[in-house]
Amino acid sequence: MTRPKNDTFLRALLKEPTEYTPLWLMRQAGRYLPEYCQTRKRAGNFLNLCKTPSLACEVTLQPLARYDLDAAILFSDILTVPDAMGLGLYFEEGEGPKFERPLREEWAINDLTAPDPNDHLRYVMDAVVEIRRALDNSVPLIGFSGSPYTLACYMVEGGGSSDFRHVKTMLYDRPDLLHRILSVTADTVTAYLNAQIDSGAQAVMIFDTWGGSLSAAAYQEFSLAYMRRIVAGLKKEKDGERVPCIVFTKNGGLWLEDIAAIGCDGVGLDWTIDIGEARRRVGDKVALQGNVDPNVLFAGPDVVAAEAKKVLDSYGTGNTGHVFNLGHGISQFTPPENVSVLVDTVHSYSRLLRKS
Ligand code: CP3
Repeated sequence: MTRPKNDTFLRALLKEPTEYTPLWLMRQAGRYLPEYCQTRKRAGNFLNLCKTPSLACEVTLQPLARYDLDAAILFSDILTVPDAMGLGLYFEEGEGPKFERPLREEWAINDLTAPDPNDHLRYVMDAVVEIRRALDNSVPLIGFSGSPYTLACYMVEGGGSSDFRHVKTMLYDRPDLLHRILSVTADTVTAYLNAQIDSGAQAVMIFDTWGGSLSAAAYQEFSLAYMRRIVAGLKKEKDGERVPCIVFTKNGGLWLEDIAAIGCDGVGLDWTIDIGEARRRVGDKVALQGNVDPNVLFAGPDVVAAEAKKVLDSYGTGNTGHVFNLGHGISQFTPPENVSVLVDTVHSYSRLLRKS
């Protein structure tokens, strides 16, 4: 199989030269786009949108129709995995995700098994196939999963949390139980990402949104170790093309060298670390993805352009190894026109930097 017509994103991750710095945005398909809100309304709710491949495909393509983005990301959610593990995911309007059956009891944790992604998450694989067909090899498609620790946070808490009281109590009191959850979840995520790759995902990303809430030692033991295991179990190639893997621990800047050493091709950065400093720390080991503060998009267009240039200047020259992104997902309150400014600035300014 050949690479997509625009393979700049894949080349940057694999450290092959690129003419400009490619970009995509975490949560690029979302509520800041009126067309997303319309499709979501047609779907009835967010979960129906995720579980209906034709609608998931439709919203995946929406940001690409508006902006000159260099990659598509599968439209889904990290919490479909615990849903497939039997926890019963639902979204209460305006309240975020919840589980009907949070994992707290020892018997339930012992009963946990890894579902077959081609069965319980068939709708995701069908969406991947449909999106690839619709993209017609224009840009690469990114598949994704949550990290085992981030998924465990939601599974044990039963939803979002401000203090992670239940999962951290388990971590300190009954680490054996948390390790059992993480182990089954790591097996599930490995099979899930490999199934996405088999279905057509051309790169994959692991979202570790809450690993950064752990102590340094606990991060190694409860988050990083399981991501290392997943990365080791991922298919590295499909149809003769490498399938790069990006690992993103939000608030993980302190542990950058350790993250870069787990075998991934790229490391995602949030906005709390200077990308130039991050580059000096990891050297040539991995590509870097990031890292403008998503809140910059609330400012005026001149500020948006200036902040994008700051990140590009800080990363510096070298023609590859940088995938531009936000440091976290785009907010639902983002003015869509500011995204155009960001995309155009990244493309034009990074071309200019390569000439200087
Ligand atoms: O990046 C993309 O465009 C792909 C789609 C994607 C979504 N969620 C769609 C979504 C991805 C990659 C995610 C990942 C995700 N989901 C994470 C990890 C990354 C991160 O943001 O930290 C987490 C923690 C979740 C769990 C989740 N899903 C929460 C906490 C919420 C509610 C918060 C909110 O913004 O309302 C969701 C819902 C969700 N996932 C939405 C979208 C577009 C909004 C749902 C809606 O339309 O109402």
